[in-house]
Amino acid sequence: MEITKICCIGAGYVGGPTMAVIAQKCPHIQVTVVDLNEQRIKDWNDPDTNNIPIYEPGLSEIVAEARGRNLFFSTEVEKAIDEAQVIFISVNTPTKTYGKGKGMAADLKYIELCARQIAKVAKENKIVVEKSTLPVRTAEAIKSILDNTGNGVQFQILSNPEFLAEGTAVTDLLNPDRILIGGDTTPEGEAAINALVNVYANWVSKDKILTTNVWSSELSKLTANAFLAQRISSINAMSELCEKTGADVNEVAKAIGMDTRIGPKFLKASVGFGGSCFQKDILNLVYIAKSYGLNEVADYWEQVIIMNDHQKRRFSNKIVQTLYNTVADKKITFLGWAFKKDTNDTRESAAIYVADDLINEQAKISVYDPKVSRNKMLADLNYLESRSVEENNNAILAFDNPYDACKGSHAISILTEWDEFVAYDWQKIYDSMHKPAFLFDGRNILNAKEVEAIGFVYKGIGS
Ligand code: NAD
Ligand code: UGA
Repeated sequence: MEITKICCIGAGYVGGPTMAVIAQKCPHIQVTVVDLNEQRIKDWNDPDTNNIPIYEPGLSEIVAEARGRNLFFSTEVEKAIDEAQVIFISVNTPTKTYGKGKGMAADLKYIELCARQIAKVAKENKIVVEKSTLPVRTAEAIKSILDNTGNGVQFQILSNPEFLAEGTAVTDLLNPDRILIGGDTTPEGEAAINALVNVYANWVSKDKILTTNVWSSELSKLTANAFLAQRISSINAMSELCEKTGADVNEVAKAIGMDTRIGPKFLKASVGFGGSCFQKDILNLVYIAKSYGLNEVADYWEQVIIMNDHQKRRFSNKIVQTLYNTVADKKITFLGWAFKKDTNDTRESAAIYVADDLINEQAKISVYDPKVSRNKMLADLNYLESRSVEENNNAILAFDNPYDACKGSHAISILTEWDEFVAYDWQKIYDSMHKPAFLFDGRNILNAKEVEAIGFVYKGIGS
């Protein structure tokens, strides 16, 4: 079967960029991205592609090229499902906040809604692709819903997890390390796998397209995120030991990373990993392991999260301790609020938790982030429900340039590794601050010797 019409349910950080790249690379395929969120779709359709709802380097250019040609954003979910041969499900799968598995299991209510809607609308055979990150064996539940509530048409379920990282989504999608497609080993399953392989083969070489059974594919996604996050918690654990022993974590990371079996990537010690997925996916993995009675497996992976929470708390404690055990009424400047550079996404950003701790100590936080608005910062803090909306409102000041944000502050803490931070006039910033001027580099991006020469009291992670 040749694919000419694709629908993607969910116009978020995955659905939007992924479908934009498919549309750009496959001009013969009509790609329609649908979402229930009207504002989000309106923003994707903004005539000025610089205003699309997701900031990713290179994305607005791709949307400008493909949108209106073979890329469409719409709220007409049923129409798009009806017309498509392939339906990607790319909706959110957050951690459950209620009931059984609260705080650990993935909430699959949005997935189930999609399956029911597809079953209701489909009048012809369709391929349904799990693009969202899902617990292993979710395809079984989707298949059961489709087969039991559908109109007697045939569905093939494929698992095609997404491995893009935010901030580099476009390059990751254009040059993926691999594309993973899991499907049934029946002739119909294999035909569906081949149809999807041929879509990706428009720009990805076939040796990078890996096909597996559905369960391996589903579990590989959770495993990949668990391994990645584990590396960060491992180096962060060493960072604390470095601080006690005089070792420097950057030197340790370099030394171990030169071992080709370990490799140099993902060994950057930090204030802790953030983002919408690492924590959620590991908690989900822990829950799955527990549900099979595999308690040692569950405990092993849970430690990655425990270490990450410890690292965030350790960072805020260090600020308080260094500032003579009190930050009450002191102005502390945050450079960065996003969970990593080159994205406007703040989900689970370490900055939120560090701010929360410091506000508990009655500090005033002033923030500059090149891509995050004050409203977003306040929404993030209000979500924690640690204090009233009004109290958060009084505790956070946001600036549109770093120099004003730092003026008159007692300490600066770097929470995101935006490239522009390195190039600032640090002498000018130092001159405008209370003395002694403290600099807590949660991303180890500044040169300690250089800023110490200016006069800063500099504290990096792990040295
Ligand atoms: P997101 O919250 O940015 O987007 C999900 C979108 O789905 C939202 O706009 C929501 O309105 C929409 N939606 C939910 N239910 C719907 C329904 N029934 N009909 C229509 N629209 C509906 O989420 P995201 O970051 O794009 O993540 C989506 C999935 O991809 C998750 O499972 C996540 O784990 C996975 N993933 C995310 C990333 C990432 O970098 N963000 C990377 C790889 C995988
Ligand atoms: C991560 C994975 O890298 C993607 O492969 C995956 O598709 C995605 O999760 C997902 O499933 O959502 P993402 O969270 O967007 O991507 O970004 P990362 O680059 O992995 O960074 C995650 C967090 O770890 C950030 O806060 C980052 O600053 C931190 N990090 C990363 C470190 O502290 N040290 C490092 O060495 C690397």
